[in-house]
Amino acid sequence: MLTDDIELAAAALRSGGLVAMPTETVYGLAADATDPAAIARIFSTKGRPSDHPLIVHLASPDDLLRWAPDASPAACALGAAMWPGPVTIIVPRSDHLPAEVAGGRDTVGIRVPAHPMAQRLIAAAGVPVAAPSANRFGAVSPTTAQHVLDDLGEHLVDGRDLVLDGGACEVGVESTIIDCTVDPPQVLRAGAITTEQVADIIGSDVEGASGPARASGMLASHYAPNCQVRLVDSPDDAAALAAGTTGSRILDHTDDLARYARDLYHELRRADADGVRVLIAVLPAASGLGHAIIDRLTKAAAPRP
Ligand code: TXA
Ligand code: MG
Repeated sequence: MLTDDIELAAAALRSGGLVAMPTETVYGLAADATDPAAIARIFSTKGRPSDHPLIVHLASPDDLLRWAPDASPAACALGAAMWPGPVTIIVPRSDHLPAEVAGGRDTVGIRVPAHPMAQRLIAAAGVPVAAPSANRFGAVSPTTAQHVLDDLGEHLVDGRDLVLDGGACEVGVESTIIDCTVDPPQVLRAGAITTEQVADIIGSDVEGASGPARASGMLASHYAPNCQVRLVDSPDDAAALAAGTTGSRILDHTDDLARYARDLYHELRRADADGVRVLIAVLPAASGLGHAIIDRLTKAAAPRP
């Protein structure tokens, strides 16, 4: 099931199979976005409700208007400036993409990933590729091929589905999602690209994430490991809490936020594998990449349903 053969993986996609592919953010579970049967397999393999919209990945920024002819000028400007990269842009859905891929919505999320393997795979497949994070619904996103196998191995079909191994993901947290179907555009999910960077490009105000959940990653409890996650504001608070908590471990990379993001999901998984009972995470400052890290940690710490 594990491979680094792009042509083999592209052929699997064209024949309705699923391919877990590395991107610069997290691994995605890819299928032909124009094939409703393949899309249905993404939902069943993830155990994800079919009304949760998927992101459609394209090989090149130049393909945006081909698949989303009604994309706004702001969406086009953002795509031209940020792609390939860790940004998803919500645009009106056209008949070129089936309703199933968008969970029935009349809008759709589009992204051009920067990972060379993802780019080569999508180009070789010759179709747009729908890909949610390659984990079971509600679980921690995968940042290595082994994480994907751990999570989805038993749900993928031998001889039909593949896991493309492209090493560990560089960014480590999911893309920034920007809804360009509203004015001003609104950030629905924090990621490596900040609200300030988005505002600079489109030259207007951008609303930060707020209001009722509009993206499934915004459910209160998402990205949840088995261990309990407790959030603290400083290394001193972490040490004090750890002193009185058996089976605890401290997670703190506040001195290097790129590393904090890159290693975050791996650390959540490692805590579970090591039987940690309480993971005490030190929150970074709320600026730049800190927003995305705070968002994911807060969801990992939220009460489970
Ligand atoms: O970095 C990423 O974005 C990764 C890699 C694989 O590209 N993908 C990813 O997909 O995180 P997923 O399905 O785990 O999260 C996609 C998020 C969901 O929260 C979904 O609700 C939101 O995007 N989304 C997709 N289409 C949308 C739409 N039309 N309107 C609002 N939210 C949408
Ligand atoms: Mg996800």
